[in-house]
Amino acid sequence: MQRTVPAGLDRKEAEIYQHLDTARLPRHIAIIMDGNGRWAKRRHLPRIAGHRAGVTAVRSTVETAARIGIPALTLYAFSEENWKKRPRSEVDFLMGLLCRYLKAEVPTLNKNNIRLEYIGRQHELPDSVQEKMQWARGATSHNTGMTLTLALNYSARSELVDAFASLVDAAARNGGLNHLKIDEDAVSRHLYTRDLPDPDLVVRTSGEMRLSNFLLWQLAYAEIYVTPTLWPEFRGVHLLEGIAEYQKRERRYGGLAEEAAHAHHSKTVRS
Ligand code: FPP
Repeated sequence: MQRTVPAGLDRKEAEIYQHLDTARLPRHIAIIMDGNGRWAKRRHLPRIAGHRAGVTAVRSTVETAARIGIPALTLYAFSEENWKKRPRSEVDFLMGLLCRYLKAEVPTLNKNNIRLEYIGRQHELPDSVQEKMQWARGATSHNTGMTLTLALNYSARSELVDAFASLVDAAARNGGLNHLKIDEDAVSRHLYTRDLPDPDLVVRTSGEMRLSNFLLWQLAYAEIYVTPTLWPEFRGVHLLEGIAEYQKRERRYGGLAEEAAHAHHSKTVRS
């Protein structure tokens, strides 16, 4: 029997979607977008052309994820290391690209009921970029569908440092350090991602096998899907391929079989 396919999927996407178990879609997908520079180099184009083409990939991936009902999608757009180690001209171009993306995309985000969020040390970004970011977040804050989180000036180690500092600070303000109690839940509650479930699936494009300082705490039990596709060529159909692969895996969370997964699931689901 043919299952109803969400509106807006193209033929190839619909074909893969038909074979997915819709009761077991990942609740949160995180993506390390990589390979823009290589894509451009292969075409004898400047690196920035790869970033520009990467925006089309972002658009397609976000729309498909929202259409199939993924509750949360997090994109690693810009690491703290990118910001500090790339030439000024490339960083400036990426900032401009982000601002143009936010301005152009808000109507589409609203049409797809997508709420925009950010993780990373926002206060270190240029004021004009921070203003655009706050505007776009505000303009989508009423949406109730997918949460799209952009990691900008993000580093997982910095996030952990900020979380520990925030834990100590909160204790100092609430009865003193004698009351400081640290456990896993307390750390999770002080991460930038405190309102998101941990990702079930992390996708990395361009064949690299690294986490590159991305969501190190939150990815503890995530399934890792690496595709050779370079980010500018990535589309919704590739996301669906990743989800199909994810559904073939058996998740054990350090236990033995399915039962362990159910136990973990009921423990970690948040309202
Ligand atoms: C990695 O490719 C990509 C980046 C550092 C930037 C990602 C930015 C975009 C996809 C476009 C803008 C994003 C938004 C959300 C508007 P790389 O340059 O490291 O590629 P390489 O490893 O081949 O050199």
